Amino acid sequence: MNEASLKELGLWPLWQLKDVAQATPPANPAQPDNRDHLRQGAHDRGYLPHLKAQGGAYFVTFRLADSLPQQILEALRQLPPEAQTARVDEYLDAAHGACSLRDERVAGALRNILSKYDGERYRLHAWAIMPNHVHLVIEPLHDFTLSDVLQGIKSASAHEANRLLDRQGEFWQRESYDHLVRDDDDMARCCRYVQDNPVRAGLSASAEAYRFGSAFEQPSRLLAGGVACATSTRSEEISRMDWQALQRSVAGCVACQLAKTRTQTVFGVGAPGSDWLFVGEAPGAEEDARGEPFVGQAGKLLDNMLSAIGLKRGRNVCIANVVKCRPPGNRNPETEEMEACAPYLARQIELIRPKLIVALGRVAAQRLLASDDTIARLRGGLHDYRGTPLIVTYHPAYLLRNLPDKAKAWQDLCLALKTMQDMQSTETPDHKEP
Ligand code: URA
Ligand code: SF4
Repeated sequence: MNEASLKELGLWPLWQLKDVAQATPPANPAQPDNRDHLRQGAHDRGYLPHLKAQGGAYFVTFRLADSLPQQILEALRQLPPEAQTARVDEYLDAAHGACSLRDERVAGALRNILSKYDGERYRLHAWAIMPNHVHLVIEPLHDFTLSDVLQGIKSASAHEANRLLDRQGEFWQRESYDHLVRDDDDMARCCRYVQDNPVRAGLSASAEAYRFGSAFEQPSRLLAGGVACATSTRSEEISRMDWQALQRSVAGCVACQLAKTRTQTVFGVGAPGSDWLFVGEAPGAEEDARGEPFVGQAGKLLDNMLSAIGLKRGRNVCIANVVKCRPPGNRNPETEEMEACAPYLARQIELIRPKLIVALGRVAAQRLLASDDTIARLRGGLHDYRGTPLIVTYHPAYLLRNLPDKAKAWQDLCLALKTMQDMQSTETPDHKEP
């Protein structure tokens, strides 16, 4: 490849600087030169020239054997080289073929294989496991060539995938696509491309929410050159969302294991600006089926409790839960699940700006107040959630089983109503900021 075409590819003069004389000597001096073409220079293996530079990082795509049929690939090869990559990626993102990487066991095994030698044989700057292909930004370390590390990753993962899927034969397409990362800007661009790929393909509402990508594992990862990757942390992103974006993000969220077993997410009911917010624990079976909180037996009781103090769901009243997806068998949500879902509830509360929050039951009360106290100790008083008054009462499902405690719940509701009335009576017309 001549100087002009290297310039065209943006590889000049960087390419010049990668002097063979500076290269680390190969580990095995018995074969000093026969792999140098894999470290240095350009060689053509397929639909784009493959450029290698000692010490460089690469954007790499490899794909399942059945993801891109030969005749489609031939057709794409008729396109100008600049268009080929984008069209190949578009075709891959449309998820043709068996898409074996959708199987979480297979994707999980590949993720473990990728992380196994990270920092030892290579440095992974970004990665995304898509249903039928994989994108990496990878920097081989020491004497490992790109070809070495890809071969290692592909053969170990093919073996494991074939075992898990009880199949045989070629798992990966032999050929991989790679592009030498030119400079810090290119590095940031490639990392962002890889991390945002699941979002572009419609698999996730945000890069951080995609479970099989580097943004999920390490949202604010720093690149080797000290260049911050362009994506912010998942909770930062959520904290900037408007109501619609928040709803969309929850609907596509896969940030915890509850995503696997839910029918749908349950965002909550009511509009921003409502004075009242009732917070429960987690959707149950009926809520999971209908996508609305508190619509089962407990929900009927909650509606009656609301109506007893002159309220109605959706009318100046919001209802939400600590976690937006149903825990299997209606078990309590686990700490990890509540933590993964916490940025959503926090942003909901910020956008609703309720005058008063009522925590329904122990889980919601302890979570919102960051407390280990029992419900018996927490109810009866006025608490504070980030500047908003909060009252604790029993969960309606508990009241269904413990009818005598209904009298105490009634006291709590009366306290809530009185607190609200006091606030409203002292309120000047412009008390609420716009
Ligand atoms: N229990 C809850 O905590 N929330 C619901 O949405 C339904 C039952
Ligand atoms: Fe996402 Fe929350 Fe559902 Fe977990 S429970 S998948 S964090 S929406």
